[in-house]
This record gives sequence, C-alpha cells and structure tokens, in this order.
Amino acid sequence: MSKQFDVVVIGAGPGGYMAAIRAAQLGFNVACIEGWKNPKGEMVLGGTCLNVGCIPSKALLESSENYEKIEHQFGDHGISVGSAKMDVTKMQGRKDTIVGKMTKGIEFLFRKNKITWLKGFGRFVSADAAYVIEVANGDVKEMIEAKNVIIATGSKARHLPGIPVDNIHICDNEGALTFGAVPKRLGVIGAGVVGLELGSVWRRLGAEVTVLEAMPTFLAATDESIQKEAWKAFTKEQGMNIKLGVKIGKVTQKKTGITVEYTDDKDLVQKLECDRLIISVGRTPNTDGLGGENIGLKITDRGMIEVDDHCKTNLPHVYAIGDVVRGPMLAHKAEDEGMAVAEMIAGQQPHIDFNTIPWIIYTSPEVAWVGKTEQQLKAEGVEIKAGQFPFMANGRALGQGEPGGFVKIIADAKTDRILGAHIIHAHASELIQELVVAMEFKAAAEDIARIVHGHPTLSEVVREAALAVDKRAMNM
Ligand code: FAD
Ligand code: NAI
Repeated sequence: MSKQFDVVVIGAGPGGYMAAIRAAQLGFNVACIEGWKNPKGEMVLGGTCLNVGCIPSKALLESSENYEKIEHQFGDHGISVGSAKMDVTKMQGRKDTIVGKMTKGIEFLFRKNKITWLKGFGRFVSADAAYVIEVANGDVKEMIEAKNVIIATGSKARHLPGIPVDNIHICDNEGALTFGAVPKRLGVIGAGVVGLELGSVWRRLGAEVTVLEAMPTFLAATDESIQKEAWKAFTKEQGMNIKLGVKIGKVTQKKTGITVEYTDDKDLVQKLECDRLIISVGRTPNTDGLGGENIGLKITDRGMIEVDDHCKTNLPHVYAIGDVVRGPMLAHKAEDEGMAVAEMIAGQQPHIDFNTIPWIIYTSPEVAWVGKTEQQLKAEGVEIKAGQFPFMANGRALGQGEPGGFVKIIADAKTDRILGAHIIHAHASELIQELVVAMEFKAAAEDIARIVHGHPTLSEVVREAALAVDKRAMNM
C-alpha cells in the first residue's frame, strides 16, 4: 500500500516550504517532494531562492558593496586602508556557507513540524479517490497518494534560441553566481532585475559591464522619476554601460572570448566582445515532466499553471502557487500564497492583496516600490497628488554618506489614500515596508504625515514625502 498524505507539496522553494510548514501547523499530515541537488550532489531544500536566487545574490551584493565602500567611500570618513583586495574564492565560500545554513534551516523546520521530505521529482500519475504521484530519485521510484496537492514547482531561467548556456562562459543566474574570478569584460543580455543586480556585483569588483536591453525604456515597470534617477546612478555615476532598444543577433564563443552581435537603437549592427556573458531575460515556469496531462491539469501554452485569485487550479483539491502561476515572480509572493493555500485547505478564508506586494531591486542605490506608478494612475484616469522628498536633506543619510535618492508617495487627489510609493536609496528595501503596511491598512498620506518618526532616521524622509503630498514638507 502506498503512503498517503493529507497534503502533498511539490517543490520546496519559498512557496512550497512555507505551504508545507503552515499545513503542518494546522494539523495536516504533510509531505513535500523536492529533488534539487546542490553542486556537491547533495539534495537540498529551498529551491531557486535559497540555492541560486535571492540569498546567494544578496550575499555577493553585500561583499561587493563592502569592497566598493573601501575603495570609494571610506576615504570621506577619513579612513584609509590602502587599496582593497578581493579574494573571490573566499567571497564565494562565504556565500556558500550562508546558503548551506539556510537550506539546512529548512530541513530543521521540516523535522520540527514533522513534514516528510520525499527526495526526488514528483509526477502526477492519476486522479481517482486521491491523487497518485510518482516520486522518482534516479531509478528509485515510489508511488504516494495525496488528498490535497499544492504545486510549487517554481521557475527556471529562460534561455535564448541559438545561445547555449554552459554556465561557465555563457551563464544564466546559476553560473553568474559562481564565477571564480572577476571577468575583465562582462556582457549581460537583459537589463532586468537579475542583470542589474549581478551586473552590479561584478562591476563593483572591477569588471567592465555592458548590458544589452531589448526595450527602449529602462526599468519600464518603475515610476518614471525612479527610472531617470536609477539610469543616472547606474550609468553616469557607476559606469555601467547600458544599451537600450537592441536586437540580439549571433553569439559566438571562441578561446579568446565571446562576441555578441546586435543591432542598436539606430538599426546599426554592433559587436560586443566579452569574457563572460550573463543571459537574464526572464524566467519560465517549471511544468515539464509534472504529468499535468495525466490528471487534466490546465497549463497555458507558456507552461504556466492556470489558477484563480485563490490559487485554485481547474481540479478539485489541487492548488498552485509561486513562480509557476500568474503574478510577480517574487519569493515573498510565493511564500504568502503558500501560507494562504494551506489555510484554505483547513477551511479558513485568508486574503492576499496583490496590489501591496513590494518589489525591491537590490542594486546600489536600491529601488523599491509598492502599488502603482504615476504613469499607470494617470493612464487609468485617476486624479492624484504626489509628494517627493530627497535624502539629501536628511541628517542621517548625510551621516551615513548615502545622500542620493528620494521617496515619492502618490495619493488619491480627493481621498488622500496612498496608491503607490517609490523609493530609490541605499536602504530602500527596509524603508518600503512602512508604506506597504500603510497601503495594506488603506492609510492616507496624512496618516503617515501625522505619525511620529524617530530622529535622526531615514524614515523621516518617508514622513516628509507624505507631508509633501499636502505641499507642507518641513525641511525643504
Ligand atoms: P522555486 O524557488 O523555483 O522552487 C521550486 C522548487 O520546486 C525547486 O526547488 C525545484 O527543484 C522544485 N521542483 C520543480 N519541479 C519539481 C517536481 N516535478 N518535483 C519536485 N520538485 C520540483 N525574489 C525575491 O522576492 N527577492 C529577491 O531578492 C530575489 N532574488 C532573486 C535572484 C535571482 C538571481 C533569481 C534567479 C531569482 C530571485 N528572486 C527573488 C525570485 C525568487 O527566487 C522566486 O520568485 C522564488 O524562488 C519562487 O519561489 P517558488 O517556491 O515558486 O519556486
Ligand atoms: P526580468 O523580467 O526582470 O528582466 C528581463 C529583461 O530582459 C527585461 O528588461 C526584458 O526586456 C529583457 N529582455 C528580454 N528578452 C530580451 C532579448 N532577447 N534581448 C535583450 N533583452 C531582453 O528577468 P530577470 O532579470 O531574468 O529576472 C527574472 C525574475 O526573477 C524577475 O522578473 C523577478 O521576478 C525575479 N528576480 C527578483 C529579484 C528581486 O526581487 N530583487 C532579483 C532577481 C530576480
């Protein structure tokens, strides 16, 4: 007789492991199927986020930022330490240690919550009284049965036709996180989140970075005011060479390096010579080999599982969450969907407000936003008022040597309700959360403006931006 579970989660990325933990907390008998192998060949939990995404990229961003601070910023404080040297092997070792701690941490949480980790890849076989799923670990195969299934199989990097990724010279996110030395010339295709974050890491450590972006606009999803400020920071101030409106042609790899042929925004054919190339042009959902066809699961032509607002698929008791379904491909979105689905299975009625999911790009400065941009709201015909305040006028930002950037808050012109908030600053990732909470509680700009903010803190800039919505900023 095969093993039976109340809830089986397929995939142990942030969506899957949070779903499994919440379901176990709610008293279900839970299993999670995961077969990811790390470079040492060990099976690990944590998915893209912990192994080759959020966590390792932030470790490298921190190391490279510290290096850059020594090189370019500590002098202003009167600190001289000679010229900085970067031991890339040690930096990578530190990153791997952090990843190891985090993935082991999930194993601990699984044990603590009595979640069965079924090691291998899951494939639906049939649906009858229960869903029958095969768990395959190489040649070892096991059949299990599930009353409820949560599909959390995530996504993988999208590659471009005719450009084979070996993850040594031509890399997606996996290879780009493991370079053993700083490339002299780094090419990046795609000026999205991965391209800008990982491009920043290697630029700070000394690589000449050229980013080739298909779109004519830079960071199209962000507010135009942020686009301008970020463009200035990344290109003029930091020297990243970003080319917009390009069309990628042939890519050839020789012993001497990689040549990327492309057409520029004036339709002229150009060549980029580089030593390493990162392809960061988005991600595709993981549904290959899942056996969706065996149970009649609806999957779009692009491999995404179809779900409603409550992550319900077309099949009873089958849910899908995270990168494998619609919406932003973000770890915190996957996590919240995971917890919500577990609660739904328990008969609760959780709610996720998709309009208050924050976005953060961990470059320097960081870019963070929640809600809508001024351009989106105007296009929707919403009457708005906006307030903006720069960090330059904030004592804490000056003390920290981080005076660049601003906070912009957009509110409804009549009700004053906050509709969007946009921050560009070294610490935007932490500051945005106040505005996420405000939007979740349907706050008005005046609510933020009337709350006492500690002094001196960067959060005073958030308050000043809220005051500026009513044209009464105090320190400007
Ligand atoms: P995943 O994390 O992709 O996990 C899916 C898991 O399912 C994998 O472990 C996979 O092995 C497993 N799986 C797949 N198919 C099967 C199967 N058939 N059987 C069993 N297991 C299966 N997001 C942020 O919010 N903040 C960030 O800072 C951030 N940084 C990122 C940096 C990089 C370089 C990248 C690439 C992504 C980053 N992301 C970030 C995005 C984030 O990693 C994803 O949104 C998140 O991991 C999605 O979680 P998930 O649980 O849906 O899927
Ligand atoms: P992305 O969608 O952020 O950016 C891809 C970029 O590549 C876009 O600007 C697109 O116009 C461009 N592009 C697409 N095809 C192209 C082509 N043929 N030639 C040139 N440019 C092309 O995707 P990315 O950077 O790969 O990241 C994937 C996802 O992972 C992100 O969308 C995000 O959801 C998640 N992520 C989140 C992070 C965070 O939250 N800080 C960090 C990294 C990734």
